[in-house]
Amino acid sequence: MKILNLKTNHLINPVGYDFETLHFNWEVQEANQECKEFHLVVSKDVNCMKDIIYDSQIIMDYAFNTLDIQLDLEPRTRYYWNVTIVDVIGQRMVSDTAYFETAKMEEAFLAKWISADSETAMPFFYKNVLCKKEVKTARIYACGLGLYEIYMNDTKVGDEYLLPGYHSYDYRLEYQTFDVTNQLKQGENALSILMGNGWYKGRFGFDHDFDNLYGDKLKVLLELHIEYTDGEKDCVYTDDSFMACTSQIFENNIYDGEHIDMTAKKEELSVSVLDDTTSLLVGRSNPPIRKVAEFEPVVVSTYLDNADIASKLSIGGLKGEDSANVSDASGAAIESKSISKTASHLLLDFGEVITGWVEITGIIEKSYTLTLQYGEVLQNGAFYNDNLRTAKAEFCYTSNGEMVTMRPHFTYYGFQFVKVTLVDCNGVDLPDGKEVLLRLVEEGKLTFTAYRIMSDMEQTGTITTSNAMVNKLVQNTLRSQQCNFLDIPTDCPQRDERMGWTGDTTIFAPTACFHMDSAAFYNHYLHSLKEEQKRLAGSVPFFVPMPKVEAFEGINPFYVTNGACVWGDVATVLPWTLYLHYGDKSLLKQHFGVMCDWIDYITKQVAASEDAYLWKNGHHLGDWLALDNGNPHNPIGKTNPHMIANVFYYQSALLCAKAANVIQDSRYEEYLHLAEMIKSEFIKEYFDDNDCYVEELTQTACALLLHFQLYPKVAKEYLVKSLEELLIANDGHLNSGFVGTPFLCQALSDNNLNDWAYKLLLNEEYPGWLFEVKLGATTVWERWNSLLEDGSISGTGMNSLNHYAYGSIAEWMYRYVLGFSPRMGDEVKMLIAPKPSKLLAWAKGRIRTPYGEYESEWHVEPSGEMQFKIMIPFNANAEVVLPDGSSRVLKAGEHCFSVRVD
Ligand code: BGC
Repeated sequence: MKILNLKTNHLINPVGYDFETLHFNWEVQEANQECKEFHLVVSKDVNCMKDIIYDSQIIMDYAFNTLDIQLDLEPRTRYYWNVTIVDVIGQRMVSDTAYFETAKMEEAFLAKWISADSETAMPFFYKNVLCKKEVKTARIYACGLGLYEIYMNDTKVGDEYLLPGYHSYDYRLEYQTFDVTNQLKQGENALSILMGNGWYKGRFGFDHDFDNLYGDKLKVLLELHIEYTDGEKDCVYTDDSFMACTSQIFENNIYDGEHIDMTAKKEELSVSVLDDTTSLLVGRSNPPIRKVAEFEPVVVSTYLDNADIASKLSIGGLKGEDSANVSDASGAAIESKSISKTASHLLLDFGEVITGWVEITGIIEKSYTLTLQYGEVLQNGAFYNDNLRTAKAEFCYTSNGEMVTMRPHFTYYGFQFVKVTLVDCNGVDLPDGKEVLLRLVEEGKLTFTAYRIMSDMEQTGTITTSNAMVNKLVQNTLRSQQCNFLDIPTDCPQRDERMGWTGDTTIFAPTACFHMDSAAFYNHYLHSLKEEQKRLAGSVPFFVPMPKVEAFEGINPFYVTNGACVWGDVATVLPWTLYLHYGDKSLLKQHFGVMCDWIDYITKQVAASEDAYLWKNGHHLGDWLALDNGNPHNPIGKTNPHMIANVFYYQSALLCAKAANVIQDSRYEEYLHLAEMIKSEFIKEYFDDNDCYVEELTQTACALLLHFQLYPKVAKEYLVKSLEELLIANDGHLNSGFVGTPFLCQALSDNNLNDWAYKLLLNEEYPGWLFEVKLGATTVWERWNSLLEDGSISGTGMNSLNHYAYGSIAEWMYRYVLGFSPRMGDEVKMLIAPKPSKLLAWAKGRIRTPYGEYESEWHVEPSGEMQFKIMIPFNANAEVVLPDGSSRVLKAGEHCFSVRVD
């Protein structure tokens, strides 16, 4: 027996977090077993032997792998915990010790915010710290705004980037805790803080050059608490004893990148101590942003610009329209391997789309500048990044002639391709630049390594099938999640946007929770959402965090409007999705207010329109980017946005009722009644006396009505038939947008059209998921036709190749191909109801839950016989429903079945 994956509040050994409530979770690896005796202890002792502050006592037949407790915790204290399990055959196992450590909690900050004005270069704060004797423990508590990195004796403190991350800075400021015990030496220590603009102060936000969104001064606050081995304590904190000078980092912001000039002279700056409040400071809640993967370029070639290509193509006899057909997304990479005699740049291809940056290691001649430009796709074999709109996405590094490993500090990029340029000290493009660079690369004197950075989360789901393209699609949906889970769930990681669009989360959250343990990440997002909602009297903005901007003529309405359906419904969908996947009641309780505030907000809107129970006012985006409205320039699909608003109003009311029921809140009846009333009014409004839908049906309308069961009973068959007819009429293709897509295949599989769901999945033509896989995509595109059949980009206005929304097909795959529907808070923790189709020979996969891994596997034999294998983890159970309609509740272990369906 093995006890592993001990998590406190969904994180392994969290340090410096806000522990309002404590949720412990562990996993037991042991087939065929259940827990007989359970015992959990929390203590201040590393071995959990003494200083016990919580003892669950032995609990018999404990049916959970989680425990919620409330403890009076002390600030700046590490607590240890372990569990002991005895299984039903008497095996006893004590887990390794896990820990969590509090931050300053209510303790007042001694530190003051300090700042230093600098015209161009970013400030660098420093102070020498004297350690009088041997250090027992040392911690730094810090927050820097915009962004900050701490160094101790010239070594970066911690392995995190882009601190303090992005949250609603106007209302809460999360500070971080660093264990620097091993970095402090006896004697003098150089403590320093490097600052950058980030989300707080740098250019950020689309459609306008917004900057200073949260403040116009970079500022930092830091406390270093030292405890010596003899028990004496010391504290160093930011005040007027800190000094500052200019750093060698110049322009920097999230969209445009960063400029570093290593030849720049450092100048002293005067430090001002600000009397800004510390009252907004709270312990962090976000998982750390770390480097999680490393990539070497798969192709390094000299860069072909469009002019080269054009001349090359005309030499080859291809002209005009024909030349556009020469390359596609995958062909383009092949094209880039050729070396043009006139090209002056290097082109790096990292083989897949990445969010992060490239690190350069090597020596460049003094005062020469290396510029890296980032792009997602080649066009006609050449570097391209016009779809990043105004985001420059570049990194400029001017060398001092020394050997370095250099990376950007305060920005990130979404890219697969990097164009490298070398210019001399006068900024002149070197005629032999490409030869110089290529030689350095070939001789190994200059290396480029890309790193994916993201909020560090554990992958929890896998799906593999007999179809290689489907497998790539699954990987692409995961990769788009990885690329967009950078402290907040962003829409895209590359263009001048990268915001926490709420609707994208409503759509993708269930997929995200299958793919990765997203509990802590989304909890952090919900904290910001809660703050934004307070300001909007329960309404929800289009993106979270939502910077406060002054309205001006011509401002993009997304900054000054809010409260649209689907986008706003993140407030109910997200907490409930987390509850289904992680079964954490305390988390649901914490965010129940967010749920209620949203539903109450809609109810107020409804009352204002004098329409009982139906939401007919407000501005909604509807089925965003659907293809069914006949106008490719109108992003709003044909399905009536108010009908969609009412579907989601109904769903949100129902989710509030369900949540109230779980946490035993008195509003259960009220919300249930509301949901029932919305449903009956909805049916009256949208179905006529003949039980027919009153508007023109679309794929999305059918999918939503069927999925949420919003129809008069007798209309079900007609809706199912209509959906099939609509698919046939559209040549067997989908045409749904952000809102309809997650429900389309689910509605088909639930209504005897399962093969249709598989057909949509397996369709390689536009529009469909495999169309982009066929064109070489490694992530999910924003539009069904982000690239056209010939590989050319379909437009630059709003066209990202890394937008996870349509990746919601992976949710259908987890739920219907593998059959997993988690409900971790219930007594029966999982529904496993795989729905195979002969269109796939086999599928298998697993999801890691708070109880451990569930596995599901099937194959269809030529005879039509279906073989199923299911694994249920220790102490867990599942209701297994097979395609023949049979159902049973099963406990831990492996279970095999054979079913014949004609
Ligand atoms: C974003 C989306 C978002 C949409 C809403 C886009 O610019 O990238 O994903 O949901 O706008 O209007």
